[in-house]
Amino acid sequence: MTVLVFGARGYLGGAVKALYPGALAPSVDIADSAAVCAALDQYKPDVVINAAGKTGRPNVDWCEDHKLETLSSNTLGPLVLLKACAERSIYWVHFGSGCIYAGDNGGAGFTEEDTPNFMGSTYSRTKSWADGALREFAQDPSHPGGILLLRLRMPFEGTKSPRNLLTKISGYARVLDTPNSLTYLPDFFRALSILVEKRAKGVFNAVNPGPISPYAIMERYREIVDPSHQFERLTLGDLPQVARAVRSNCVLNSSKIQRETGNVFRTGEEAVEEALEMLR
Ligand SMILES: NC(=O)c1ccc[n+]([C@@H]2O[C@H](COP(=O)([O-])OP(=O)(O)OC[C@H]3O[C@@H](n4cnc5c(N)ncnc54)[C@H](OP(=O)(O)O)[C@@H]3O)[C@@H](O)[C@H]2O)c1
Repeated sequence: MTVLVFGARGYLGGAVKALYPGALAPSVDIADSAAVCAALDQYKPDVVINAAGKTGRPNVDWCEDHKLETLSSNTLGPLVLLKACAERSIYWVHFGSGCIYAGDNGGAGFTEEDTPNFMGSTYSRTKSWADGALREFAQDPSHPGGILLLRLRMPFEGTKSPRNLLTKISGYARVLDTPNSLTYLPDFFRALSILVEKRAKGVFNAVNPGPISPYAIMERYREIVDPSHQFERLTLGDLPQVARAVRSNCVLNSSKIQRETGNVFRTGEEAVEEALEMLR
């Protein structure tokens, strides 16, 4: 199986390269249609994985001041891939975001059938616009290769990567106490490999069941990793004091991906425990 990954130098793209060590990783702007088509024609991949996108540094507030670059990478690029892969009947995977919802949908979590309801930041809008187009074509016969759209949220794992959610929130003086759906990367990459193997198509919420708040995670962090760690509670109402762009806080329903992968996602609580033990 020839896998080609876009965005291989990023946090998630690097992990895709680790999952598929032989994967091709051309340095191509995904919004540049001619360059994308040339790469696909040269390498003729069986599977394309798009881990490219603008996430902002140090955080998504960056996207508010770089709207065109964000639009180009997060919306235009995926549309270029949609067309280029369809024309060549190539199966491809896109890393979408769950940050296109707000709330917990009455406790049930949002399913893949629910219309996104959060458009509060440039990052979320550009991800949502791509999500809408990919959803339309994911299983459509006019895209003969098929699309697998995986929506992640706040990825975390047991390393000290600065991109790991646990690293980020352990550096915050005030930590949000609202439960959120999260993606544990070891579970996510097991799911990715299963879904790619069976060429699954469609939209999947790629999160662990059982939302958990960053504040609750840091309470466990203090118990397991660093008893001297200090932090304070941040409520949803206080969030605008520390973040410029409005942040999505949401719970997604993960039943569909659990059915399709044989329950590879552990509960959020179990996943956090494992990651914290690894950090310790
Ligand atoms: N990490 C998260 O919290 C999270 C959550 C949900 C979804 N996702 C999605 O997952 C994807 C990867 O996220 P990540 O955390 O791995 O981000 P990342 O560490 O910022 O990596 C993204 C990579 O894509 C590259 N890139 C940006 N625009 C590109 C373009 N037009 N063409 C080719 N490469 C481009 C970036 O290069 P430059 O640095 O040069 O721009 C970077 O190497 C993104 O689409 C993101 O929206 C991430």
